[in-house]
Amino acid sequence: MRAFVLTGYGGPENTELRDMPKPMPGAGEVLVRVAAAGLNPVDWKIREGQLRTVLRPDLPATAGNELAGTVEAVGSAAKKFVVGDKVYARTGKDALGAFAEYAVVDEDHLAAMPESLDFVEAAAIPLAALTALQAIRDELQVGQGFRLLITGGAGGVGTFAIQIAKALGAHVITTASPRGRELVESLGADEVVNYENVQFEDEIAPVDGAFDLVGGTTLSRCFEIVKKGGRVVSVAGMPEPRTARQDMDGGSALVALFWVASAKYRMQARLAGVDYRYLFMHPGGSELAELARMVECGKLRPVIDSTYAFAEIADAMAELERGHAKGKIVVTMGGES
Ligand SMILES: NC(=O)c1ccc[n+]([C@@H]2O[C@H](COP(=O)([O-])OP(=O)(O)OC[C@H]3O[C@@H](n4cnc5c(N)ncnc54)[C@H](OP(=O)(O)O)[C@@H]3O)[C@@H](O)[C@H]2O)c1
Repeated sequence: MRAFVLTGYGGPENTELRDMPKPMPGAGEVLVRVAAAGLNPVDWKIREGQLRTVLRPDLPATAGNELAGTVEAVGSAAKKFVVGDKVYARTGKDALGAFAEYAVVDEDHLAAMPESLDFVEAAAIPLAALTALQAIRDELQVGQGFRLLITGGAGGVGTFAIQIAKALGAHVITTASPRGRELVESLGADEVVNYENVQFEDEIAPVDGAFDLVGGTTLSRCFEIVKKGGRVVSVAGMPEPRTARQDMDGGSALVALFWVASAKYRMQARLAGVDYRYLFMHPGGSELAELARMVECGKLRPVIDSTYAFAEIADAMAELERGHAKGKIVVTMGGES
């Protein structure tokens, strides 16, 4: 089968489309004929070696973290799906494997894809929407009237985060360039701050919590605008000790490493009287089923920036790395619609 393979760590020259053996599902796994796969910044961050402390796939490894397709075969102990089911998944963190004609996925990471969507739309959902759900519902506990700042609302995660927060009753303020304003407003954002010429802390009233998708000085500035006792959740800043304990089952060495690495942000948070949490999202079939229900009742829709044929995946990755996607970039494997 054709696969987009990671051959080493560094620049794009460490990836290539090549033939790889078709994978075989283990006992609790499902073999999926992949119809479409979504791209995420983590794909190039893994290639660059940025996650090597926590993620070290044996190379060469098929890249890719999310997919939609049809069940081709099931492992001996896999009970949840049958051949022919249309499914979608964020693959296991250590497994990768979505950028291929066939992928093996733990059955607990799969869900039936929303019936009203095609494969491209379904493949755009798993990683980004699960991240948004876990951050906004579980970590920030957003509810009716919650004033939420989302930095970077126009990208893959942000477009889901706005919709999920609105569905939970929040007042959503987001940052976007003029190129993304119309999109984030169409998704329900109540206030939009142009990050290119305005500092949000000068523009908006204090918020109950912030979901940061940008990191760096943008994350630091979040601590200035969240009310005392509130929380800043970032997926783009620096992991902190709870990331190791709760999201990674990390040992004391990883806890210590993240404690040191996050010292600046934890200090800024402490001075501001707010909590800082870096979330490393996790896959989950039952949460994907919840997201499918949100799609079916009209509360959630994927935003597709662009679609590429699988043969053009290197171009798709280059486009993603430029960092201006509005919603998601998806590749199609061909053969299904
Ligand atoms: N820890 C985790 O589990 C986890 C999970 C998912 C994602 N992430 C991370 O979260 C981050 C966002 O992911 P994504 O998929 O949403 O990325 P993305 O789709 O590549 O984001 C692109 C969007 O970000 C906007 N943007 C760029 N710089 C900005 C700024 N300074 N302020 C506001 N908006 C800005 C761009 O708008 P313009 O082009 O208009 O400027 C573009 O629309 C990435 O770093 C990713 O690795 C982490």
